[in-house]
Amino acid sequence: MDKYYKKAVEAAEFIKGRIRLQPEIGIILGSGLGSLVNDMEDPNEIDYGDIPNFPLTTVEGHAGKLVSGVIGGKPVLAMKGRFHLYEGYDISQVVLATRVFKLVGINDLLVTNAAGGINRSFKPGDLMLIRDHISFFAPSPLRGKNLSEFGVRFPDMSQAYDRGLLDAAREAALKTGIEIREGVYAFAQGPMYETPAEIRAFGILGADAVGMSTVPEVIAARHANMRVLGISCITNMAAGILDKPLNHEEVVRTAKEVEHKFVALVKEIIRNWSLV
Ligand code: HPA
Repeated sequence: MDKYYKKAVEAAEFIKGRIRLQPEIGIILGSGLGSLVNDMEDPNEIDYGDIPNFPLTTVEGHAGKLVSGVIGGKPVLAMKGRFHLYEGYDISQVVLATRVFKLVGINDLLVTNAAGGINRSFKPGDLMLIRDHISFFAPSPLRGKNLSEFGVRFPDMSQAYDRGLLDAAREAALKTGIEIREGVYAFAQGPMYETPAEIRAFGILGADAVGMSTVPEVIAARHANMRVLGISCITNMAAGILDKPLNHEEVVRTAKEVEHKFVALVKEIIRNWSLV
């Protein structure tokens, strides 16, 4: 058995032994959505440090635990704290948890993040459903020997973000009266914010928002044939759009300000989520 695959199996077996309900939806919580786990019924936490072979998060303010429980009537398993490429992990480590989700028996993934707005009609605080992404200049989490236990060598990415789940999310937005945007998310490796020239280039390429996460996990999930829904919280306008510098504090502040709205939307989306 491949060494990496064996590590993922060990982590999954450990998690299966610690959760009470079979989760149906995996959730990767980005900045500002952490409090979603406070609304879980019957929550059950596992520290990353206790899970064999799991990396530990290095970002300040990001916990590092899995929380299983029930949201909107559905059993879920949420990652509070994710692994970013900019932290120095190998790209295969960034997506280990996504693959472990699959091995735990999860087929649906909800990923959220904070992102900079490139589309000039966006404003900080907007929520954006991710319709597609751009990341051809970043390393692929699938590089190296193909792990056929998960999927094929050349996986299709023409529908990376599930159309049915996008519809469920649109319905949830209507029902809650929460306004949502839609667009293309561009992956930037970070940790520095982009230059104005990079943002102009991304805009010309068709990106509406930019961020430093999500895409590796989505690629690994699609490789394993999981259904994916992605939502960005636009925390700031991207570099050069407004004539002012970017900083992490603004990102954290905006994420915090809209957390309530984001959590309400996500709860309704999960309630609306039809499992297959
Ligand atoms: N760029 C990249 N990542 C981000 C940004 C940004 O402007 N805002 C939040 N995450």
